Amino acid sequence: MRWTQRGFRVTLPLLALSAAALLSGCGLGKQSTLSPAGPVASAQLGMFWESLAIMTGIFIVVAAVFLYSIIRFRARPGDNELPKQVHGNTTLEIVWTIIPIILLVFLAIPTVHYSFAFQAPATAMKVDVVGHQYWWEFDYPGSKVTTANIVHIPVNTKINFVLTSADVIHSFWVPELGGKTDLIPGRVNHLLLEASKTGTFYGQCAQLCGPGHAYMKFEVVVQTPAAYQAWVSAMQHPTVSVTTSEQKAGMALFKQDCSTCHTVGGTSFNGKVGPNLTELMTRPTIAAGTLTNTPANLAKWLHNPPGVKPGALMPNLNLSQTQIQSLVAFLETLK
Ligand code: CUA
Repeated sequence: MRWTQRGFRVTLPLLALSAAALLSGCGLGKQSTLSPAGPVASAQLGMFWESLAIMTGIFIVVAAVFLYSIIRFRARPGDNELPKQVHGNTTLEIVWTIIPIILLVFLAIPTVHYSFAFQAPATAMKVDVVGHQYWWEFDYPGSKVTTANIVHIPVNTKINFVLTSADVIHSFWVPELGGKTDLIPGRVNHLLLEASKTGTFYGQCAQLCGPGHAYMKFEVVVQTPAAYQAWVSAMQHPTVSVTTSEQKAGMALFKQDCSTCHTVGGTSFNGKVGPNLTELMTRPTIAAGTLTNTPANLAKWLHNPPGVKPGALMPNLNLSQTQIQSLVAFLETLK
């Protein structure tokens, strides 16, 4: 009795803690495969439910047979004989070979069907994606638009994401739009996605790629065709209006310290190492989704990039507060 009470006192809080930890993963957050927003994600969710149903069925049958066996055939007092030996029962062997084969066929048919159905057709709109430690480059071939950590696409349109990497293996994943595909250096992979409603969907690198891996996020902005065209047009014709002396000082400093790595549309800065900053102020976040895009956060980032995002390849430039303020003033003109 004593032990039972103590055991209870220890076990109950442990169970409650485990349940809390497990259940905190439930709920439909920003990145849930359970709330599909397009045909690819819906089909994949359907396959998930199908395999879950099959596995639940197997679990129930096996658990029932197991429970029945340990109760019905348990050793009883005075029962010293060996139970009946059924090793090598041909009927049983055939049954438990054929049933799994049938179940696997039921899983294989939709898997193979969708593997072919979701190959990107030649007519699909292409977006080139390059994974970098630790940010995303998006290029729109043919329209001379390049952006970073945010990708705009039109609704109800098949998009062929053409994936490669500049350094190590990353993985492109937008849970609400469809399953993930790796970005591999020296190789090109394709991922077909389509969004059936407008809104913002959240993507994430899903392959451990270094200390900044967890900070390698991006946003997919799904727009009506008209809004999407307006965005493309704005990106193609950026205007940078630098008027105040602080903005001018910031632009001069940018030219000296930042332009070898960053491109800014509407200026002569065309570095290719870091993220393209054209129309930067139209993006809701900076540093691959790490910080919301506010002047205070831009200053925080410029003060010490690796301090904000571990492993960030942009070094701490040891800028003074005045330099940071003028750089922020310049960056704020990029809209
Ligand atoms: Cu890139 Cu993880």
